[in-house]
Amino acid sequence: MKLASASSILLGMAISASTLMTTSLAFSASAPPPPTAAATSPMSQTNVDPTSGRTIDPILIRAARGERTERVPVWMMRQAGRHIAEYRELCKRYPTFRQRSEIPDVAVEVSLQPYRNYGTDGCILFSDILTPLPGLGIEFDIDERVGPVVEPMRSWDDVGRMHPIDPSASAPFVAEALRTLRDEVSPDTAVLGFVGCPYTLATYLVEGRTSRDYLEIKKMMYAEPKLLHAILKNLAIGIGEYALYQIENGAQLIQIFDSWAGHLSPRDYDEFAAPYQKMILDMIKEKYPAVPTVAYIKHSGALVERMAATGVDVVSLDWTVDMAEGRERISSGRARAGLSGPGGVQGNLDPAVLFGDFATIKERAEEIMKKAGPVGHVMNLGHGIEAATPEENAAYFIETVRNYRHES
Ligand code: CP3
Repeated sequence: MKLASASSILLGMAISASTLMTTSLAFSASAPPPPTAAATSPMSQTNVDPTSGRTIDPILIRAARGERTERVPVWMMRQAGRHIAEYRELCKRYPTFRQRSEIPDVAVEVSLQPYRNYGTDGCILFSDILTPLPGLGIEFDIDERVGPVVEPMRSWDDVGRMHPIDPSASAPFVAEALRTLRDEVSPDTAVLGFVGCPYTLATYLVEGRTSRDYLEIKKMMYAEPKLLHAILKNLAIGIGEYALYQIENGAQLIQIFDSWAGHLSPRDYDEFAAPYQKMILDMIKEKYPAVPTVAYIKHSGALVERMAATGVDVVSLDWTVDMAEGRERISSGRARAGLSGPGGVQGNLDPAVLFGDFATIKERAEEIMKKAGPVGHVMNLGHGIEAATPEENAAYFIETVRNYRHES
């Protein structure tokens, strides 16, 4: 098919003029406005300082904004789910992932389990990066053994079936769960929203499932790059809207996952991943400048400066990067992109450390906190917690971080 008709198919998504405007603004090179003291989400804040009467945001949100906090806030990627016995028990009553993530009461219960059991400073919505896809015209399934399964998208005709998103029609359960979570957690705990980035979502769309070598998407990248760009752009606009919807319904921070972008060469990252991450980040900053953003990529060692240059507030490091070196590289990536300040950092304990003894967990966690320093650090793992992790070790990790204090 010729490219002229390709672009008309893309425009055939009937994207509204306002969305296109937001999107073109999203590409502007100007730095986002500085965070304001406004509440971090449009929902009311209940955390009021009794002496001053001023609203205080949760500790995790303050750290993500680069403020110095009284201690280091902590949560764990993929903290809800597989490693918790209560969750495995609940899976017997709700055997599919779509039930567990799309029935609001069940999603709320699963989201609350790690918060209740460990006292994490963040409570992440139990959902998936694929959850918004039906709202864009893409059906998916989660096979309990192989993970996500999607009808492969390989042609312009397939792309033509994508349509603009209306999350209130396609994912109202996300709003209901987020609103309930805001009521359920303490005012000092942040409710965390998240989205998948276009490149990582496209790996599932083009491959049809999880992959080891990503050859189908890479074939498209080198043989039909315009087709891949059309998919990525449609995803970026839809996912940006979906992130705003999460914020409007209670999410106080948005983490963007581009988990599989670490398989790209830096040049391809610059062309196929970073611009679309930036579209989403800029849509958020444009409308909600006080809501912090976090970006995560697995195997991001070669990409740290580039991640920071997107203007994301916090770079989430995996464990292949030394925390002190990561800090310097985030700073220099921001400076090169004309952004001020050192930027925030999240991470970066190897999830496998949680299989060690308590003394090892403490030593490794404290080393990272020392290297990160007292400002703008959110403690986390370098990737999702492993399914076989003993719950008492996860509890000990959270407790260790909550008890740690930086000297002076
Ligand atoms: O792990 C990451 O890199 C984070 C980004 C990511 C998520 N989902 C976020 C998520 C990725 C890459 C996915 C895709 C996905 N979806 C996979 C991985 C498959 C692969 O390619 O390796 C899987 C197994 C799913 C389906 C899924 N998502 C299940 C079965 C579950 C529940 C239990 C479990 O396995 O953890 C999820 C939950 C999920 N995926 C959350 C997030 C942020 C839940 C919230 C949390 O606790 O973090």
